[in-house]
Amino acid sequence: MMREALEFSHRPVLVREILDNVRVGEKGGVFVDGTLGLGGHSEAIIQRFPSISVLGIDLDAESLSLCGERFRDYGDRFMLQESSYARLDDLLLEMGIESPIGILLDTGLSSFDIESSRRGFSFSHDGPLDMRYSQSADYPTAREIINESLQERLHTILWTYGEVPWARRIASSIVRARGTKPIESTLDLTRIVKRAFGSRIKPGKINGVLAQVFQAFRYAVNGELEVLEAGLRKSIDVLASGGRLFVICYESLSHRLTKKILREEERGCVCPIDFPVCVCGRKPRIRILTRRAIHPSDEEKAANVRSRSAFLRIAEKL
Ligand SMILES: C[S@@+](CC[C@H](N)C(=O)[O-])C[C@H]1O[C@@H](n2cnc3c(N)ncnc32)[C@H](O)[C@@H]1O
Repeated sequence: MMREALEFSHRPVLVREILDNVRVGEKGGVFVDGTLGLGGHSEAIIQRFPSISVLGIDLDAESLSLCGERFRDYGDRFMLQESSYARLDDLLLEMGIESPIGILLDTGLSSFDIESSRRGFSFSHDGPLDMRYSQSADYPTAREIINESLQERLHTILWTYGEVPWARRIASSIVRARGTKPIESTLDLTRIVKRAFGSRIKPGKINGVLAQVFQAFRYAVNGELEVLEAGLRKSIDVLASGGRLFVICYESLSHRLTKKILREEERGCVCPIDFPVCVCGRKPRIRILTRRAIHPSDEEKAANVRSRSAFLRIAEKL
């Protein structure tokens, strides 16, 4: 399993673009990888910049234990924490780390998450409907949400977190199916979605819809958009002046949210446009360095299918 897992880790996305934009002063400092995964980005950073330490954070205990092995030779230069990047401020305080020089949020799933059927993230591999990033989390799994939510809530989840076409029809199919027996597995859910569409959808389109349905439940289980917003704001709170925030998104909802929050933080004032003077008192906190998000090169997209939907945004703390 270790070898299988590390195979995936060798394909971190947009690495060159990140390395070219990390800024390290004379005194070095700490770079925070808020979504360590299998450590692909962390390894590239720790190797390129000998004067810095890396703090790797992830909710997934299994990834952390693999990285513990992988980074053993780096000694004190590599630190690990099982936590959410949404509590970055508290975490740094507890660890006595001040003002990191850079923070990376490579949001969403790793290829390893998708391929491990036990986690329930994939619509094509059979597994339990879990979808939590943290196996020790005490919040409801996808199974509980799917089997216990009112039809209207299922509809809202599908629509707001997945922009799923025919969300109402799918919600009602889920409720009908669970009336006969509980929906236990990823492939149960896949079958229900396929049945809801029947022959009304072209065969080539159904996988796109299934990806949206699974995304919607994953976002609902992990509070993904809320966590991302908290993570972005707290990253900006804690970064050193001149430090850089790197955010990679693969899905349009997280991509749009990141763009909105970075723009707000760059603008500062949130007063309505027709107010003659600012009453909110909020000041710009960052400068966005990527007017347009960076997309992988054709070579990277050809070599790594997962990179095709990736967009990187970089901002500098003022
Ligand atoms: C796209 S992968 C990161 C891959 C990594 N950059 C690499 O090179 O291997 C995203 C990782 O973020 C983790 N994750 C998701 N939400 C998180 C959160 N709120 N806090 C910390 N880690 C999170 C997932 O468990 C997953 O391992």
